[in-house]
Amino acid sequence: MAESMKGLKRTHRATEVTESNIGEIVTVMGWVQKSRNKGGIIFTDLRDRSGILQIIFETGDGEDYVSDGDFAKAESLRSEFVIAVVGKVAKREGAANEGLKTGTIEVRARSLRILSTSEVPPFPIEANSKTKEEIRLKYRYLDLRRPDIQSNIMMRSRVVNAVRNFLANEGFLEIETPILMKSTPEGARDYLVPSRVHPGHFYALPQSPQLFKQLLMCSGYDRYYQIAKCFRDEDLRADRQPEFTQIDMELSFVDVDDVIDVNERLIKSVFKDAIGIDVQLPIQRMTYAEAMERYGSDKPDTRFGMELTNVTDVVKGCGFGVFTSACIEGSSVRGLCVKGQGEMPRKKIDALVEFAKGYGAKGLAYLSINEDGTYKSSFAKFMTEEELAALVTAMGGEKGDLLLFAADKNKVVFDVLGALRIEIAKNIGLIDESKFNFLWVTEFPLLEFDEEENRFVAVHHPFTMPMEEDLQYIDSDPGRVRAKAYDIVLNGTELGGGSVRIHQDDIQKKMFELIGFTDEEAYERFGFLLDAFKYGVPPHAGLAYGLDRMIMLMVGAESIRDVMAFPKVKDASDLMSEAPGVVDEKQLEELCIKIDIKDKE
Ligand code: AMO
Ligand code: AMP
Repeated sequence: MAESMKGLKRTHRATEVTESNIGEIVTVMGWVQKSRNKGGIIFTDLRDRSGILQIIFETGDGEDYVSDGDFAKAESLRSEFVIAVVGKVAKREGAANEGLKTGTIEVRARSLRILSTSEVPPFPIEANSKTKEEIRLKYRYLDLRRPDIQSNIMMRSRVVNAVRNFLANEGFLEIETPILMKSTPEGARDYLVPSRVHPGHFYALPQSPQLFKQLLMCSGYDRYYQIAKCFRDEDLRADRQPEFTQIDMELSFVDVDDVIDVNERLIKSVFKDAIGIDVQLPIQRMTYAEAMERYGSDKPDTRFGMELTNVTDVVKGCGFGVFTSACIEGSSVRGLCVKGQGEMPRKKIDALVEFAKGYGAKGLAYLSINEDGTYKSSFAKFMTEEELAALVTAMGGEKGDLLLFAADKNKVVFDVLGALRIEIAKNIGLIDESKFNFLWVTEFPLLEFDEEENRFVAVHHPFTMPMEEDLQYIDSDPGRVRAKAYDIVLNGTELGGGSVRIHQDDIQKKMFELIGFTDEEAYERFGFLLDAFKYGVPPHAGLAYGLDRMIMLMVGAESIRDVMAFPKVKDASDLMSEAPGVVDEKQLEELCIKIDIKDKE
């Protein structure tokens, strides 16, 4: 028996009613959080996106009572009913509720309408739900009512507003680019959309607006931005979704420092507006090479130390074969000094060894320095007293410390120790969660060698400009060339990335050649961009942030799913709408598509 709201107009959201409204008549509408009948008096918590307000229903003589009819209705209230209440704001008669924004007031109802009823929801609508995520996502429309998720979604809106304000003030134009387009070169797998009009032809959904924003620079728009939906068919992790949102921008007549400058001010302004954090400028910068050397990662978490130490030179002639065999070009022995963890039990060390193996290590050598100065170690027996002492000194090891070593190809050593550093810091509580440590990582390699494909691939994308001083190596030693590419890292997460683009014909040609594209292949894929570059292209550069990741870090969410209204799960499906789904035979016929599912092992 849903009633209409005819003649009523909401005057306040729940927590917009304050002590300053005491004595006023208000009309509030929202969901019943809970309702308790204390015999003759009913206390109902009304919830909307702003929070909770207590309503009192009582029968009696006088203005601040409800009719018997309305009281009977109030008795029928259950969680998640949607109601409208007209009533007078009063000072709370019982003890104030410190936990509520409206804890010192209540609304004494004069009338009640039940706008709709609700079945018993499959889980309680409350913060910090213990309900399994699959259930929550199946009923996402209910999950989205929970105050912690609502606060994340509202934060997201606030951030987008702050971004728009800032960029508009800086002379950026918001321009939309197509969703149905040709494949973009961001390196993930494309989502394809079949064309009905052109049977056998497919659009690709954009992995990013990269090509279009570069075209907009060719067209003279100078400073572009977009809150852009991007689509990537890649394996999902806690900070990845198949469709996600970028704050995407591109600027003309700029170099690395100009992009960094405007983005530092953007970050400062947005983090202040959204969460009241004062980001100190300038943000620290570190080259890729330094980040790898010190942290074993291109996105180091700088909230704690425990940096890597290269001990290759120290162990060179020692008696431990694992170490000495890594003392060759391209390999190394590096270690972590874990302060005060010398007593770590063997079981925990074994767990770290297993963790390291997950990152490709063949093993992990360890040495604990006992309080009496003796060692407990997996390799000490292979080394002399002097060799061990030199190693401990090089590591800065002191009594009570635990030293961990990896010996392998540099890439493996960095991967292993970089990951181990984070894992250990989490385990032993080294990370100050209240910190927001931003870091620019610059001078990324232009290319990396893909063993599988036996060719170089672009680290960022093929339109990224090499550093002028490294152009000399482009033929002789392409792997050595650094790029004008940069990432912005926050607390060990890659928040965004970008680069200065190539705007010279000859360099672009060279780049395609290096990554194994023939002229024809390059033309086939990016011909329109290459053509556009023939008609006057400004030097340009840009950057894109993952908006979802930004919000996730701002609110301290565990998963990117907690900051997106309708996320997908690990297998890229939507548990609520059950997308992707099968389609009608007729639809397939129109598209000239036949399904032929081979058994997948
Ligand atoms: P890139 O590929 O580095 O650069 O992407 C930019 C940022 O987008 C976010 N991101 C993701 N977020 C959620 N789920 C995903 N699957 C996902 N993939 C990426 C990350 C990342 O830093 N066109 C270039 C930018 C440029 O050069 O201007 C680009 O897309 O936070
Ligand atoms: P082993 O002689 O194989 O028993 O190895 C002695 C110690 O060295 C063990 O603790 C192994 O885990 C460790 N170890 C083996 N390979 C490596 C490696 N590549 N890097 C670091 N430690 C290793």
